[in-house]
Amino acid sequence: MGREMKRILVVGGAGYIGSHVCRMIAARGIEPIVFDNLSSGHRHAVKWGPLEVGDIRVQGDIERVLARYKPDAVMHFAACIEVGEGERSPLRFWTNNTGGALNLLNAMATTGVENLVFSSTCAVYGQPEFVPISERQACHPLSVYGRSKRAVEQILSDVANVGGVRCAILRYFNAAGASPDGDIGEEHDPETHLIPNALKAAAGIGPKMKLFGTDYPTRDGTCIRDYVHVLDLADAHLAALDMLKMGERKIVANLGTGDGVSVLEILGAIERITGLTPKYEVCERRPGDAPVLSADTAYAEELLGFNPVRSDIDTIIEDAWRFHRRQWGI
Ligand code: UFG
Repeated sequence: MGREMKRILVVGGAGYIGSHVCRMIAARGIEPIVFDNLSSGHRHAVKWGPLEVGDIRVQGDIERVLARYKPDAVMHFAACIEVGEGERSPLRFWTNNTGGALNLLNAMATTGVENLVFSSTCAVYGQPEFVPISERQACHPLSVYGRSKRAVEQILSDVANVGGVRCAILRYFNAAGASPDGDIGEEHDPETHLIPNALKAAAGIGPKMKLFGTDYPTRDGTCIRDYVHVLDLADAHLAALDMLKMGERKIVANLGTGDGVSVLEILGAIERITGLTPKYEVCERRPGDAPVLSADTAYAEELLGFNPVRSDIDTIIEDAWRFHRRQWGI
């Protein structure tokens, strides 16, 4: 086993995935220090350790926090994530996602922090040649978002090769669900993701949900995705960090379940679980959506012992629904 850890700096720890990881870090007896500019994260989601407000676009901000807390590792979640927005504001995405990661790496080098877990995405693959997608498939990202993350992966590879950092690159498929106690969950503004939007439509909040395309070459004509519970993702981050502590220099792993669920299947599951019918209107396809994305999970299983236990679609929806009912006061 790697040596005991006392503190982890969680960059973007006030956001959706970051806050769930903080919860799990604290459950292991390690202190999560959150660094966040609160541009999309929430102060109320920082519950397990101190919050340092700062901006990854400013190297000095990160350096100051690294020097103060001397963490054993950094987990980096802070990024712009809305694919459509990236197409409209590429410079913002490159500055935050790629420039921010470079600042973080430089600050880690200056302060002697070696271990990094980096949030990447299945968007780095673009339109895959085969599904399920293994880590060996070529990366041809189709979006600014995917390219801004892929560039960080390449930088990390170069730096890890000369011993400048130990890094785990985790490529998430569709993060979903919430903390089972309904305490923290997905709170994006605007919300673009399917499950929260469909739950909103079921609850009768706002207009009907838009269903983007029913003419895909899939079993029911709607897109198929690989939904993975945010707490299963959180588990994998700690497993990846253990591997770095045991001497791995660089890990690249997909995090998904290997199962594909269609948009209509999600809507059906929501109706079954909540007893409410999500109202939707069929719209044109959303540009850039691949018909089917799912993960080949063999490598994450072997390397990280990744075994998602809350990622069946019913548990994901039950947990998300519990959180949103509380959030929406219904
Ligand atoms: N969808 C709808 N209506 C909505 C929202 C989504 O029909 O209101 C559909 C989408 O077209 C897609 C599916 O539901 O077919 C899932 O869409 P999400 O936006 O929830 O998730 P994505 O698969 O588009 O996005 C996820 C991550 C991104 C990442 C992307 C990589 O959330 O950060 O995978 O493909 F970039």
